[in-house]
Amino acid sequence: MPPRKVRLAVSAYGVGGPGQHGLWKDPRVPNDASIDIRYYIRQAQLAEQALFDAYFIVDSQFINASYPSHYLNRLEPLTLLSAVATHTSHIGLVGTASSTYNSPFNLARRFASLDHISGGRAGWNVVTSFDTGTSTNYGLDEHLDYATRYGRAHEAVEVVRGLWDSYEDDAFPADVARNVFLDPAKLHALHHTGEHFRVAGPLNISRSPQGQPVIFQAGVSEEGRNLAAHIAEGIYAPGGTLADAQAYYADVKQRAAALGRDPEHVVIFISAAPVIGSTDENAHKISRDIYELDNDFDRKLGFLGRAFGAYDFGRHDLDAPFPDVSHLAANGGRTTGAEIVRRARAQKLTLRQVVASFTEYRPSPFTGSPTTVADAIEHWVNSRATDGLNMNFRTLDDLERFAEDVVPLLQARGVFRTEYEADTFRGNLGLPIPANRWTAADQVATAA
Ligand SMILES: Cc1cc2nc3c(=O)[nH]c(=O)nc-3n(C[C@H](O)[C@H](O)[C@H](O)COP(=O)(O)O)c2cc1C
Repeated sequence: MPPRKVRLAVSAYGVGGPGQHGLWKDPRVPNDASIDIRYYIRQAQLAEQALFDAYFIVDSQFINASYPSHYLNRLEPLTLLSAVATHTSHIGLVGTASSTYNSPFNLARRFASLDHISGGRAGWNVVTSFDTGTSTNYGLDEHLDYATRYGRAHEAVEVVRGLWDSYEDDAFPADVARNVFLDPAKLHALHHTGEHFRVAGPLNISRSPQGQPVIFQAGVSEEGRNLAAHIAEGIYAPGGTLADAQAYYADVKQRAAALGRDPEHVVIFISAAPVIGSTDENAHKISRDIYELDNDFDRKLGFLGRAFGAYDFGRHDLDAPFPDVSHLAANGGRTTGAEIVRRARAQKLTLRQVVASFTEYRPSPFTGSPTTVADAIEHWVNSRATDGLNMNFRTLDDLERFAEDVVPLLQARGVFRTEYEADTFRGNLGLPIPANRWTAADQVATAA
């Protein structure tokens, strides 16, 4: 059997995402990195030179002052990626957008536009938003509950995909001699009426060279995994231990297979923050230094509240038992919130101990010399813990180092590409182009 191919992606965090509390102090990171389009373009170009599959932009729409530095001041993903698209040619461009706080028509239009601007390289990371405070930015008193959010997500993707098929691929003959720009028989309105949306269609933009943008998803709860199994072509998975990742991988692939899908068409990328040194020892020292730089108790305490609707734990005695806040996570960061409460109760932890326990020093499994990191990547992929890595590099230098020192090792072992296989994101991920539902229906009718 040929070796399993590794997929690589980079996730962009300018001045520091979750846990990276000290990154903004690094002199190599400009204070405005998260709003500087040149920073993103440079990062995407470096990733593309290294032949990465994807460039990911995470997003959320609620903040308070305790949120990670990057979240406090950042660009809107599709605006950002449209600019990046014009300075890159092969790397996939995945933007996060909430199905809870967007209309499907708007989503379909914006992602189809990115798909054209990039020549068939767009991806949509479908999230349901777990910051409960987002509701207050959209005129709602309450964040929607889990069942409603995930129900909306399923239906939103169905509608968006339907809208993306509004035009058959040969709908525009643009035949001057016959005076025919559009063949109206090849334009289809959706006429969708469902539990959450009523959308007539058609959409006013055609399909791109990859047919439709690639659908990504990131979710860990029961509802999240089911959504992934139904709709995800790429998954943005949590990291954790090798055993955790293997369990998640097997579970989600199996759920997709049970729905009649090819599990190879659900590409899993786990989150990883590699730390590379000249030797393993040197890498572990760098990793420890990073931990100390990020080790800001007040900011860790502040961010602990996110799973609980941005709850302010600062109002509690740090040395008293962990307060009973489980109900605050019910509609928000339920999976994380439940785990925090479970551990606090089981181990009878104080608030201070909870912060320590959830932010203790845990080096990335991808820490070491370039050879050690390449070995670990190969091992995780061969052990079916993941199909690839969605990596978070603290600086552009760190990304460059990975590209120069680790990528060639993976290539020499035959587990990473030496050139892009295709011009589109789907082509490079080995995903099929979805048939246009109207053409597919015609083909079935003709065959019958
Ligand atoms: C690696 C990873 C990246 C994520 N990125 C985002 C994001 O950019 N925006 C967002 O609203 N949620 C993001 N999420 C959160 C998920 O969409 C989901 O809400 C969260 O994991 C809770 O999952 P659950 O709702 O299935 O329990 C991410 C989750 C993971 C694991």
